[in-house]
Amino acid sequence: MRINPSILSADFANMTAELAKVEAADMIHVDVMDSHFVPNITFGLPVVQNWRKVSKTGFDVHLMISDPDTWAPRYAENSEMVTFHIESASDPQRIIHKIKDLGKKVGIAVKPNTPLEPYKDLVHQLDQVLVMTVEPGFGGQKFMHEVLPKIRYARELIDQENPNCFLQVDGGINLDTISLASEAGADTFVAGSAVFGADSPEQAIHQLRAAANR
Ligand code: DX5
Ligand code: ZN
Repeated sequence: MRINPSILSADFANMTAELAKVEAADMIHVDVMDSHFVPNITFGLPVVQNWRKVSKTGFDVHLMISDPDTWAPRYAENSEMVTFHIESASDPQRIIHKIKDLGKKVGIAVKPNTPLEPYKDLVHQLDQVLVMTVEPGFGGQKFMHEVLPKIRYARELIDQENPNCFLQVDGGINLDTISLASEAGADTFVAGSAVFGADSPEQAIHQLRAAANR
């Protein structure tokens, strides 16, 4: 069970200290938004490059942008794993190959209303499938229970096609909802407000991991 804190809920004015608080994490989840694919904007490549210099933990980049075909490889050069939204990708196969050629991990993400079934043939090549449990764009939203059947379907698909592939969930994950997602088959959990909003982010990571394992 992997816990990846989302940087979106961190204090952007103190990132060296914020990153040091979450060294117990498996990876740092880096939410890139462009105000086109989602109605919010966060940060771009130069910012990610600078944060990486002060992070001891690897970066799991979540691209919520309208042109992943152009940008995904650039982020792959500056992280360990890049997950792009299938809804905005023109040529997913090409993106996957480009990221793999760089020796990095690659994933696809689906919004709550996007079915996974049409993309099942991609799963054998992926390192991660990200099932969004909120509408992407903002931290601190409520976990959408109606996505649980899709998590179960993703688990079956991954078990059949590619058991090493991570099944990540993102949005509204806290000590209550993490067990629902893990029972449904998720093994990698993004948590923004539940980690950075806690008195001790480190303790929150350990508690979330324990709850996911239960
Ligand atoms: C939402 C982002 C999430 C977000 C999660 O679009 O993809 O990673 O930061 O935040 P919480 O855990 O607060 O829902
Ligand atoms: Zn995210």
